[in-house]
Order: sequence, then structure tokens, then C-alpha cells
Amino acid sequence: MVDLDTLFTLCKRRGFVYPSSEIYGGFGGFWDYGPLGVEMKRNIRDLWWRSMVQERDDVVGLDAAIIMNPKTWEASGHVQGFVDRLVECKICKQRFREEDVAAMACPSCGGQLSEARLFNTMFRTFVGPVEGEAAVAYLRPETAQGIFVDFKNVLTTSRKKLPFGIAQIGKAFRNEITPGKFIFRQREFEQMELEYFVKPGTDEEWFRYWVEQRKNWHLRYGISPENLRIYEVPAEERAHYSKLTVDLMFNFPFGWGEVEGIADRTDFDLTRHSQVSGEDLTYFDEETNTRYIPYVIEPSVGVDRPFLAFLFNAYQEEPDKEGTRVVLKLHPKVAPYKVAILPLSRKENLVLKAREVWAQLRPHFMTTYDDSQSIGRRYRRQDEIGTPWCVTIDFDTLEDQAVTIRDRDSMIQERVPIVELVSNIQQRLAVC
Ligand code: GAP
Repeated sequence: MVDLDTLFTLCKRRGFVYPSSEIYGGFGGFWDYGPLGVEMKRNIRDLWWRSMVQERDDVVGLDAAIIMNPKTWEASGHVQGFVDRLVECKICKQRFREEDVAAMACPSCGGQLSEARLFNTMFRTFVGPVEGEAAVAYLRPETAQGIFVDFKNVLTTSRKKLPFGIAQIGKAFRNEITPGKFIFRQREFEQMELEYFVKPGTDEEWFRYWVEQRKNWHLRYGISPENLRIYEVPAEERAHYSKLTVDLMFNFPFGWGEVEGIADRTDFDLTRHSQVSGEDLTYFDEETNTRYIPYVIEPSVGVDRPFLAFLFNAYQEEPDKEGTRVVLKLHPKVAPYKVAILPLSRKENLVLKAREVWAQLRPHFMTTYDDSQSIGRRYRRQDEIGTPWCVTIDFDTLEDQAVTIRDRDSMIQERVPIVELVSNIQQRLAVC
């Protein structure tokens, strides 16, 4: 697998990801997604939403506020329990998570480390004009709580019956002590979370169902089976709310790392919010004529981690006539652009034709256009950013009204009439 530095360089050079505020020296744990990154991220979100909401009859969506009433985080246990154990080097004063250091020596200078202190990783801010303790609020460290707090509203308005789920995609923030490994551990990131409410007693069955569903999603869109591992998280490593947790791990070049966590959160969150808010958050089960607080199964995944895993999994270097071809074999639905339009030369009549073809494709697919340098170089440029299909407009096109489609992975070329181009590419996308 390609190393982290090579992938980072490609991401920056081609416009997938940039260090945030780079002209000021960057800002640790914050990243910006460039023109290609923003497309790929959008594709990952859309594929998640499609499989978790659109294609199901038992899940609805939500978009809750990032800053919530601070009582939310007292009820959820985050004010008390969302902590890392932090040690400080007595010489260079750098701070580390206790679990990241071996033999209690500073990883930076070898100095002696202090006793561990608890450090809450929620970002604090103030709401309103007064900066006092009474105005403290938090940037959400997970999107899930918006779903729990809105549970009753969604239940009433959607009239769903158990089992049913509420899905949400949005930013989350954690003041990580040691952000790093490129976009793997960030301080501002994006989560895609489903809270799936079930009848108590059926939770373990649903838990296994969601582990399977989510594993298959990652396998389908960009992780090879040998790079995916299921980790049953032992009790001592689980979050305070969880009865069962499985992590889906990817074989990153820096070691196996969590891409997604699936947890059985029991009735912990709804019970706590019910106690603290005084609202009745029970569900009336018409079949059994009883009221109870549902259990919750939560598949929770960042957008950024599959983004990174898909890139690592896709990166390949293949020997070719000119040396090495670098190709991102991304799933076509994940790739930033579906089609590149490449006129063979900059002759005016060819460019006009190419622009006409481009205009036909744009309403249907995310496309790009490139007319600089040799056609071979242009193919290589598209391979390196994962564009699955290149459409070449040559001098014959002006006569036969046909173009050549070149496939990124097989490099097979096919001549296709322009009138069939949109449906040909739609067909290729539909079968992958
Ligand atoms: N609501 C449950 C929850 O937040 P988590 O395991 O802390 O659980 C879920 O986070 C997912 O969010 C992780 O599997 C990962 O994909 C993503 N994630 C968590 N912290 C992250 C960070 N600092 N940077 C990037 N992604 C992160």
C-alpha cells in the first residue's frame, strides 16, 4: 500500500485536501477539501444517504443544530465522561494522550511525564454577549444527541412504528490532544450517524444486522476484503453508553484504524434525556399495549475516514511504456469526476465539437475538460484522480459523429455515437 506522505502529496497537488489556513502556517487538526475532495466527499455522503434513508422504508432524516442546549451534554454524560487522560512532559511541556505513550517517557524529547489529568475534549464557546459560566455551550462532539433530543418530535410527525431510524449527517468537533495521521484524526470532522430504535430484547439481533449492512457498504464502495477487519470492542474500551460495540477497521499504512463504529446504546440516552428534561420519551407499543423506552443501535461513521480509506485502497502504481502509471481505482460512484472530455487537438472545429459534447454530458454527470499536452499525458492525469471514463474527440468525430470512450482500469477503448454517449455512460455507472 502507498505510504501516507505520497498520498498526502497527491491529495494536495491535485486538489483533494489542503492544510487549513495554510498561508498562516496551517492549524493542527483542521483541513480543507479542494475541488476534487469536495466532490468525493459529496459522493460518499450521497451513497450513505441513499443506502440508509432513500432506499429504506424505516428511516427518516434530520438536520439538528450544531450548538444545542448545554443540558444535553450533562444528560448524555459528555460533560462528565467525554475525557482523555492527558500527560505533560516536564521538560518540553508537550501534552499527549496517556494511551499514546509507552514507558511514561516523552515521545518528543524523552523527558519525564507528569501524572495523568482528565481533559474534556468538547470545544466550549459562549452564547450571547456575556462570556460567563452561565453562557457556556459546546460544539457537538457527535451528531447523535440531536437525534435523541428530537426523538419525540420525529416520532410524532413521521408516525413511524418501531423498529425505525433517524439519520443525520453533519459536522462534529473534538479538541483532540493528538490530532494527526493526515485527516484520520481531526478536530473538526463530519459524521454520518443512524440511531435505529428497536424493541428491548431485539437489540442484539438488530446490532448484528447493522454490522453486516455497514460492512457490505464499505466493501461495495471501496475497501477490499483483506483490508477490512471486524473488531469486537471489549467492555473496558467501550464508550460509557454502550453494551456492545464493533469497530470496522481499515488496514491503513500506519496500522489498523477505526473507520466506523456500531454500538448498542441500549436505552441509555433516551432514559437520561427523559430524566433530565422531564419529558416522557417512552414509546407506546400498540401490539403489546405497553409503554417502554426503545433501545438504540447506532452505526456511526465519519465522512473523512472512508474518504481516506477509499483513497489508500484505490491507489496503484502500474508499470507502463512511459515508466509508471499512477491510478486511483476508485469506485466510479465515489470518484470526483465521472467523465473527462479530451479534444485531440486545439484546432477550432475540434474544440467546438468537444464543447458541444461537454455541454451534453454536464446535466447528467460531474465532468471535467482538458485540452493541454499530449493525449497520453491527459489520460495519466485523469488516472491519477480516478476519473473512470475519458471521452476523446478526434478528427473522425467531425465526420462520423462518434467519440472514443476509454476505461480507466482496463484501458479498453470503445467507439460510441455521440447520440448514445449519455446512455452509454449511464449504463456503465448503473452496473458498477
Ligand atoms: N456517536 C458515536 C460516536 O461518535 P465515535 O467512535 O467516537 O462514536 C464515530 O465516532 C466515527 O466518527 C468514527 O468511527 C470515525 O469514523 C469518526 N470520527 C471520530 N472521531 C474522529 C476524528 N477525530 N476525526 C475524524 N473522524 C472521527
